Amino acid sequence: MPGNAPPSASTGRCRPPVLITLALVAPLATPLSGCSGRQSALDPAGTEAGAVHDLFFVMLIGGAVIWTLVMALLLYAGRSRPEPVSAKTANRLILWGGVAFPVTVLFLLLAYAVWLMPQVRPWLGAGPTGEPQIEATGEQFWWRLRYLEGPGQPGFETANELRLPVGERTIFALEAADVIHSFWIPTLGGKMDMIPGRTNILSLEPTRTGTFRGPCAEFCGTSHALMAFTVVVMERADYDSWRAAQAAGHPAVPQALQAGRDLFFRHGCAACHAINGTAAIGRVGPDLTRIASRGTLAAGTLSNTPDNLARFIRDPGAVKPGVKMPAYTMLPAAEIDAIAAYLGDLR
Ligand code: CUA
Repeated sequence: MPGNAPPSASTGRCRPPVLITLALVAPLATPLSGCSGRQSALDPAGTEAGAVHDLFFVMLIGGAVIWTLVMALLLYAGRSRPEPVSAKTANRLILWGGVAFPVTVLFLLLAYAVWLMPQVRPWLGAGPTGEPQIEATGEQFWWRLRYLEGPGQPGFETANELRLPVGERTIFALEAADVIHSFWIPTLGGKMDMIPGRTNILSLEPTRTGTFRGPCAEFCGTSHALMAFTVVVMERADYDSWRAAQAAGHPAVPQALQAGRDLFFRHGCAACHAINGTAAIGRVGPDLTRIASRGTLAAGTLSNTPDNLARFIRDPGAVKPGVKMPAYTMLPAAEIDAIAAYLGDLR
C-alpha cells in the first residue's frame, strides 16, 4: 500500500548539515531566552554580575570554538581515507592535541577566572572592606531585612523588598532563622547560602538603577519557589529619603481606617508583626511598617493590592503552603477587609 511505503531518502532523514545546525543552535536556545529581564544574570546591573557575565561568555565562546574545531576534525577524519600514520606522528598528535592543547586551554581559563575573582568577592585576601550595612535573614518563606544604623542614618527593619544606592558597595551579613536558604540577585551578583548559626558576608555594587528580583536559591521547604524579594536600586538622594521615611513612625491614622487598626490589635496581629510608631512590636513575622509601599506581598508571590492583602490574611496557607502565619477564616470578611484597608494605607 502506498501509505506504508518507506520514507524516501530525501524526506525521511535529516542530513548531516541539518543535524549539525540543530546541534549548534539548540544549546543556545535556553540561555538566549533568558538574556534580559529583572532576574537575568545575562543582563548585569552590578559589578559582580558583570564579572560573572564576562566569565560566562568567555567560557561559552571558547567552548563553542573548541567544539567546532573538534567536530570539523571528526568530519574530516570520517570522510577522508588517509594512509595509516607512523607511530611517531600518532604520538605527536596525542602529545600536542591530547595533552598540551587541553592543559593550555584549562590553564588559561583558570588564570582568567582567578584574575576575575577579586571582582566577584572583593574582600577575599584583603579582609572585609567594612562593617555590614544590611542584615538579611532567610525565614520560611520570606526575607527579614535589617538596615543597620550608620552615620546619620537610623536603623530599621523591613521585609521582602531591598533598596540599595546605585554606584556604592553595600555589605550584607547573611543569616538564616530556621533552615538553609540562599541569597541571590542574579542581575547584581551572588549567590551565597544563608546558614543557621553562621553569618556569611557578601557585598554587592549595583551599577544602574532599576527594579530587579532575587529568588531563594536553596530548597528550604514547601514554599521555596514562592520565596523571592524585590530589589530597587535608587539614586543616593532618593535612597536617603526612603531610609528616613522607613525609620520614621506613622502619622495619625485617618478616621476611616481606625476600625481596621483596632481590629489589627484586637485579633493579635501585633504579637507577630511590627509597625513603627505604634504599639505593634512583634518580631515573629515580617515588619509591616511600610507594607503598602512594597511592590509585592508574601515575598514576591502576589501583587500588592487590597484584594490580595485580604486574601492572604484570610488564608495564608492557601497562597503559600507551609507558611507559619495561621489562617483567619473565622473572621467576617468585613473585618478582614478593614484590616487590609488599614495595612493598605501604610506607605
Ligand atoms: Cu528559602 Cu528556598
